[in-house]
This record gives sequence, C-alpha cells and structure tokens, in this order.
Amino acid sequence: MELTHEESQMLDGRQGRAVRKSMEILAALGEIYGAKRLVPVSSVQIAGVSYDNLGEAGLQFLEEMAENGGRVRVLTTLNPAGMDIENWQVLGIAPEFARQQQRVLAAFQRMGVTVTCTCTPYLSGNLPQFGQHIAWAESSAVCYANSVIGARTNREGGPSALAAALTGRTPAYGYHLDEARQPDLHVGVAARVQGSFQFGALGKTIGEAMQAAGKPGAVYISGVTSASLEELKSFCASLATYGGAALFHMPGLTPEAASCTPPEQTVQIDQRALDRAVETLNDAAPAEVDFVSLGCPHLTIQEIARLAELLEGRQVRREFWITTARPIKQIADRMGYTRVIEASGVKFAVDTCCVVAPIQGRFRALATDSAKACYYAFAKNRFKTRFQSFDETVAIALEEPRNKG
Ligand code: F3S
Repeated sequence: MELTHEESQMLDGRQGRAVRKSMEILAALGEIYGAKRLVPVSSVQIAGVSYDNLGEAGLQFLEEMAENGGRVRVLTTLNPAGMDIENWQVLGIAPEFARQQQRVLAAFQRMGVTVTCTCTPYLSGNLPQFGQHIAWAESSAVCYANSVIGARTNREGGPSALAAALTGRTPAYGYHLDEARQPDLHVGVAARVQGSFQFGALGKTIGEAMQAAGKPGAVYISGVTSASLEELKSFCASLATYGGAALFHMPGLTPEAASCTPPEQTVQIDQRALDRAVETLNDAAPAEVDFVSLGCPHLTIQEIARLAELLEGRQVRREFWITTARPIKQIADRMGYTRVIEASGVKFAVDTCCVVAPIQGRFRALATDSAKACYYAFAKNRFKTRFQSFDETVAIALEEPRNKG
C-alpha cells in the first residue's frame, strides 16, 4: 500500500506510539484487502464499548492507547456501553462491572472521543454527508450510513475504527470504491410493508435471501415505495444481522439507487415469506414473557412520544427497559415524556442496550419489536422471544401475567 510522507512518519512512530500502533493496524488491513492507499475519513463510530464484550484485555488496550498519546483527529462517537452511565444501579448492574465500564469510558474520553454511547449516532450529532469516507463500526449504523445517507464505510471492528480515529484515515477498499457499491442481487418485494416491526421482518427475509445467494456485497430492492426514518433504522439493523449486509439500494428512497445498474430480479418476497419470518421469532408464549424491551436500534424522539401516549396513566406488569441515546432522553425529559413513562414503571436504559448489558440468566423470555434484538437475545443470552409491533409489545407489558396464555 502506498503511503504519503505523513503516513510513513506515522508508521515510523514519529507521531507517537498510539499513532504507530494505529497505522500498523491499518497497514495490515490494507495489505489483506489489497488497498492501494489510505483515504481521509470525516467521522468515526467505535463499537466494542461494553466491558462485557471488551473484558480486561480490551480495557488495557484502550488505556495503553490513551496513555501513549492517542488523540482522535475527527469526530468520533461510541456505540452503547454495558450500562446506563448515570443510572446503572436501577438496572441492577453490579458495582464492580460499573467500575470497569467507567474506566473504559474514561479511556475513550482521554483520547477525545465523544462519549455519546449510541447505535444511532446519526441522530446525535454524528451525521456524515453523501459521498464522505467514514470509518464506522456497528452493523446497523454502517448499513444506514452507506445506504440511506450515501456515505462510504466498511464494517469496521473496534480496533480498526479506533485506528481510523487516531490517524484520520482508513484503507481504500470495499465500500469506499465505486465498484463495490454496485448491486449484485435484485430482490422484488410484493407485499405492503409498514411499521418498524414489518420492516424488521423484511430485513430478516431479504438478509436470509442474501445469505442463500452467496452474500452479495450490495442488494437492489424494488417494490418498497415509502419508508420513515424509524422503518429504515429497523430495516438496516435486521438486514445487517441476518444478511451481513452493509449496503442496499431502494429506488426513490436511497440516494445511489438512481445511478446504479440493477441486475435481473432473481428473488421475490411475498407476504407469506414475511409471515414466516415473524413466526420463526415467536417461540415464547405470551405468559412466559418476563422482560420487555424497545429501542433496538435506539429509540427516536417520535418513538418515545408514542410510548408516552400508550402508557399515560397506566402501569406495566413486567420488567420493561427502553434504550436510547442520552441527547434523545434529554429531549424526552424536556417534553415531559420521561415523567409519564417512568410513572408507568418502565425503566430508561440510556447509553446501553439489552444485547451488550450483562443480563444473561436474569430473564427467560423477551418481548420486543426488533428482529435484531430477537436474534441476539437467543444467540447471546439464550432467551426465548416474542416479536410483534411496537404497540403490541407495549400491550404485552401492560397485561396481568396471570391472564396470559
Ligand atoms: Fe443498537 Fe444494541 Fe440493537 S447496539 S442496534 S440496541 S443490539
């Protein structure tokens, strides 16, 4: 890989040990993927923030990078941490875990990372522009950035995203190049899809079709004529989880669809396929549900407003967490939604999510409107799942457990 004079100096260690380590990571990645050069990035999103995933070795790596002078060169934000930074006691987090998680966040902060802790950074101030090169980890946000915004990123891992932040660069391969952004699978949708939940089911169905088709790099999806921010957020999370997808094009909805050449349509998704997707995520009976969660990906302010409307003057009967970003929670506070929601017994789990929080063994069955949350609830925590719309999820939480069956 060809390096500029400044990049060679970084690799030689003339800009400090953290920068040298970062350049070593990027150079190795560039060699593996055949990149010819590095490109400057305008934004970074780092995943692997929860101490539950990082462990002691990951924490030490971060502290060493901070100690060795690592400082971010571009706007850099964080994925959810393993707990609500301000309110972890309410969620039953162990003090020792909280202490280690605070050390992780302190290390990031020393490096100049903005500790927003959200998987929807594009709603909290990290919003790249069309065509910009960025280095994002977090599969749902990568899919959103590439597809909905038209920015350019590969699916980074925690260390490679941090390396990009500390050097302001990433190797130019994969989705940074025009050729990888052309679709190599065309899926037609012959069903009316509405609501985040149905878009989640659609993402699962298309994701699985992508896997069956040999994991194409990008997919062209026709037949979907409208989608809200919330629906696209849910679709991206699901498509990335079940299909490993980082880029899709939808004519009329995503910015690069008009300029790409769609291949012949080879896959058709109908209502029956969507119904099957929903069925496979419903292995828990309603009576078994002992944990309810909304906010995967993190809730928008519109979703929180809807929740407050549904919960006004009512009491939930099961443990119920909602996950969102701190800046969105602050808007909810100001609007009075927080008061209504907390009065109903629902807990805010801000800065975190139910997949990266250490909750294994605490619950048996999760009800959620997120296909991605269902996947990880089973894969990581062995929970059974119930998958239904946002409003239906709230309804489950409101019912007396003894009336369920
Ligand atoms: Fe976000 Fe956690 Fe879901 S990171 S997309 S809430 S699994």
